[in-house]
Amino acid sequence: MVQIVEEGAVTLNVEGAFYNPRMKMNRDIGVAVAGALGISDYLDALAASGARGLRVAKEAKVDHVALNDVSPRAARLLEENAKRNGLEACEILSTNANVLMHQRHFEAVDLDPFGSPSPFIAAASRSAIGYIFITATDTAPLCGAHLKSGIRKYMAVPVKAEHHREMGARILLGATARELARVDKGMEPLLTYASEHYVRVYLKIARGAKMADKTLKGMGHLEQCRSCGRWRAIPGMACQSSGVCTFCGERADVAGPLWLGPIQNREHIRKTLAELEGSIARYDRAVRLLHLCAEEIDDPMYYDHHKLCRKFKVTPGSAESLVERLRSGGWRASRTHFSGVGIKTDAPFEVLNEVLCSI
Ligand SMILES: C[S@@+](CC[C@H](N)C(=O)[O-])C[C@H]1O[C@@H](n2cnc3c(N)ncnc32)[C@H](O)[C@@H]1O
Ligand SMILES: [Zn+2]
Repeated sequence: MVQIVEEGAVTLNVEGAFYNPRMKMNRDIGVAVAGALGISDYLDALAASGARGLRVAKEAKVDHVALNDVSPRAARLLEENAKRNGLEACEILSTNANVLMHQRHFEAVDLDPFGSPSPFIAAASRSAIGYIFITATDTAPLCGAHLKSGIRKYMAVPVKAEHHREMGARILLGATARELARVDKGMEPLLTYASEHYVRVYLKIARGAKMADKTLKGMGHLEQCRSCGRWRAIPGMACQSSGVCTFCGERADVAGPLWLGPIQNREHIRKTLAELEGSIARYDRAVRLLHLCAEEIDDPMYYDHHKLCRKFKVTPGSAESLVERLRSGGWRASRTHFSGVGIKTDAPFEVLNEVLCSI
């Protein structure tokens, strides 16, 4: 049986393999990132029909692409789809991804599993020399909706809060930073985003114990007030929270350990945008998303503008004008791709309160 689909520059038989057309934008961006970075050796560790790896081979013109899937049926489809697209040079493998990643090194390793990438992050951290790209569709455990599962998978405690999408991304980044550190590697996030029900991260690896130590300085915790919603980032692997909100005196929960460092690299996003915008195909959604990511300030987390206004009992103006007023007061501020009503700022909660109430 054949079930043919076309995506990007490839034609695929997806009969009997996992293929999700809703992940096309995720793959569009993946191809653009591979092109922007000039990658020459890439592993699609959990390849299914090959939608991701074959597009990377064809569209980003990556020299060596290995596509692996433990399912023999998927591996047969990978062979067939490689031939169908004139990509016989691709290496097709059918082994447990963790075994493969412990045996071989690749410049870039891409993890695109069902649900949580957690079982594969340790092996990918060993295998990848230059880059790790990860998709996580287990947003409920990452963001705090399934607390115990999140703790088991990522060894971090999430807190349910308005910025849950960014918390999920930062817990995934934190778990990866810790795995990389175990093998004397550090990381720099190049692009991080949440879309629909998944989180995607693109990480550049820096080798050596010193780089690992430097990376771990980006780890920390987040203190989250149960009452007023104020949060505070607390750097360091050892948690320094008093458990009390310094704004209203109520009890504060602690999330973490998680990644508090920058999550977007503007120069890299600009190059990826050039790949997307230079393509004949129209990638409007991806382009809009990446522009938003590039505009975000580096400071962690965001407030929900509407929730803040309800809390301080003020009528919400536009989020844009709040950003402008914070900036004119000398603070950093921006919108965020994580939420249409999200406001990022380095201004303390007290200042945010004053600015909102002074309309
Ligand atoms: C979500 S699908 C991959 C989708 C694909 N990357 C795409 O863009 O269409 C996950 C795949 O991982 C494979 N898989 C699951 N566990 C694996 C393992 N331990 N080693 C290798 N492949 C595995 C499954 O057979 C499945 O085809
Ligand atoms: Zn409080």
